[in-house]
Amino acid sequence: MTGASGSIYGIRLLQELPGEKILVMSKVAKAILPVETDYTLKQVEALADAVYQDDDMFAPISSGSYQYDVLFVAPCTESSVAKFACGIGDTLISRAVMCALKEHRKTFLLTRETPKDAIMLENELKLARNGAIIMDANPGFYPHPKTVEEVVDFVIGRCLQMAGVPQALFKPWNGRQDE
Ligand SMILES: Cc1cc2nc3c(=O)[nH]c(=O)nc-3n(C[C@H](O)[C@H](O)[C@H](O)COP(=O)(O)O)c2cc1C
Repeated sequence: MTGASGSIYGIRLLQELPGEKILVMSKVAKAILPVETDYTLKQVEALADAVYQDDDMFAPISSGSYQYDVLFVAPCTESSVAKFACGIGDTLISRAVMCALKEHRKTFLLTRETPKDAIMLENELKLARNGAIIMDANPGFYPHPKTVEEVVDFVIGRCLQMAGVPQALFKPWNGRQDE
């Protein structure tokens, strides 16, 4: 999790993704958590099987040889996007993304910024061309969400679909609005 608005996206992913989960939060991600949610840092960390600090370059995910299935940066700042696009790996999060990309691992960036300038768009394009999947935190409204939770869960449901995980968080479009 990096320091963009949308801590809840990282939390919901930790709650919904199956399997073993490794969590790293940037300094600003930790600071934003209590501003946007009622979760404490301890409660969020308890959702993961392992927690590493963003300055811990000795963590397993800082090596490309460490095997895992998918990497989400959720939420993902444009500052981190810029680092990833330039191949800078001076934090655990940026190093893990660098490794995931070079290993051709599924790498999802749940970016959140608006509006986006040309620098941000060019960085995202560069990453997309290098295999990253840019998942803007951008809900659809065809399932007629009634609550903020349903809006969030549309985004998380799409993340689960993309990661190959069965999901029931939202009803996918089936071509007919009356069913
Ligand atoms: C309350 C708050 C909300 C922020 N929201 C965003 C955001 O939505 N998107 C973004 O790119 N940066 C946002 N920022 C700025 C980043 O936190 C800042 O650029 C930071 O250096 C990113 O570092 P990190 O990517 O290591 O977490 C926000 C900062 C604060 C304090």
